[in-house]
Amino acid sequence: MSEFIIRGANPLKGEIQVQGSKNGILPILAASILVGGETLLHNCPDISDVACALEILHALGCKAQRRGGDIYIDSRTINGYEIPDRLMKKMRSSIIFAGAMLGRTGNVRISSPGGCFLGERPIDYHIHALSALGVDMEYDGEYYLCRALKLHGAQISLPFPSVGATENAMLAACAAEGSTIIYNAAREPELADLADFLQRAGFEINGAGGPTVIVSGGRSCGFVEYTIRGDRIAAGTLLCAAAASRGEVTVRGIDSARVSQLSHCLAEAGCAVRSWADAVRVGTVGPLSAISPVETHPYPGFSTDLQPPLMALMCFAKGESIFIENIFESRYNHIESLLRMGARIQAFDRIAHVHGVPVLHGERVDAADLRAGAALITAALGAQGETRISDLGYIDRGYERIEEVLASLGADITRITENDFGA
Ligand code: UD1
Repeated sequence: MSEFIIRGANPLKGEIQVQGSKNGILPILAASILVGGETLLHNCPDISDVACALEILHALGCKAQRRGGDIYIDSRTINGYEIPDRLMKKMRSSIIFAGAMLGRTGNVRISSPGGCFLGERPIDYHIHALSALGVDMEYDGEYYLCRALKLHGAQISLPFPSVGATENAMLAACAAEGSTIIYNAAREPELADLADFLQRAGFEINGAGGPTVIVSGGRSCGFVEYTIRGDRIAAGTLLCAAAASRGEVTVRGIDSARVSQLSHCLAEAGCAVRSWADAVRVGTVGPLSAISPVETHPYPGFSTDLQPPLMALMCFAKGESIFIENIFESRYNHIESLLRMGARIQAFDRIAHVHGVPVLHGERVDAADLRAGAALITAALGAQGETRISDLGYIDRGYERIEEVLASLGADITRITENDFGA
């Protein structure tokens, strides 16, 4: 058990370099299997989801080691085909390793992936896409045994632009004979990053980051060196946290276009926002005011991952802000804790009405999932008094030593670990 103790209403000030992207690096770690050689990655976030991905690579027989912000992988030694259930259950992205394994060896055994509880998270689009490429799957009630004697190019129409299913299809299609066209592909920037990595490895991919992706196969050149891009969700969280604390913070290392939807919301709320090609600054001058309805949508719509921290910020804004969550069924796990801190929120089904209040007060709260944790940190930094946030395991999945990042900006935040409790 570990906790953050945050004493709020302490304006954050300064500049910070954002961590490498969680959603960017996870599919790239899977893609290192397709390289069939050496991969050297820079700017790798030190988060528990990445540690889990490295465990998966080890379990499959790859060498994978971290040195500071670099990760080196050698996938020539691959000799396994089972991803242990324990690792499948740790994070949703474990399923992306299936596409890469099928492309490289034609065999993989997986179970249903776990991850944050955000409602039903089926894998039917993944199964549909891999089957179209020639994968045969047997499900025994616990495990999927997947085999592909030969992958062949296909035309895949995704019923919804799923990020993970698009990544899985792209990875497997790299090893297919003939071209694959993925229609209604996810357009999140991390898809373009994955294609960039795969192209450097020697595969031919066009259109990634757009709605139609064409994978024409290719052959790995055996070595790739790549730098992970800045994390747009971590950057957005820091911008919300800075605004909630009524501070002024510049987040560097982020393509500002990737957070432009959030920047518009912050500006509408009355924050001073300035964007450069690779940085965004937010400052608070006057009181915050409510904003037009925020509806989450696949990229380039408003990110479901930034809905929780933005909602926490809007708890301090005068008037009513409305949120409509369209991606996940249960992405309002933060609301109960925000209510206990004094927020006024009415949520029914996918719609939440947030009525700003002059102050939130510190409370004991639980981070119910990764981005719910981001919302609670945001709220705590703006609240009067002391907030204790427990269940940090979720926050550590995606945010690299966030307490050190926030403390460097002047936040009063301490991590209490199990040992501190025992003392
Ligand atoms: C990725 C991101 C996550 C983000 C989400 C939506 C990573 C590591 N994670 O998650 O941060 O919140 O995109 O932008 O990149 N669905 C199905 N069947 C499927 C697959 C998905 O019904 O086979 C549904 C999901 O339940 C959800 C929606 O499609 O309602 C979007 O999911 P998806 O885009 O696949 O999310 P992830 O790839 O899991």
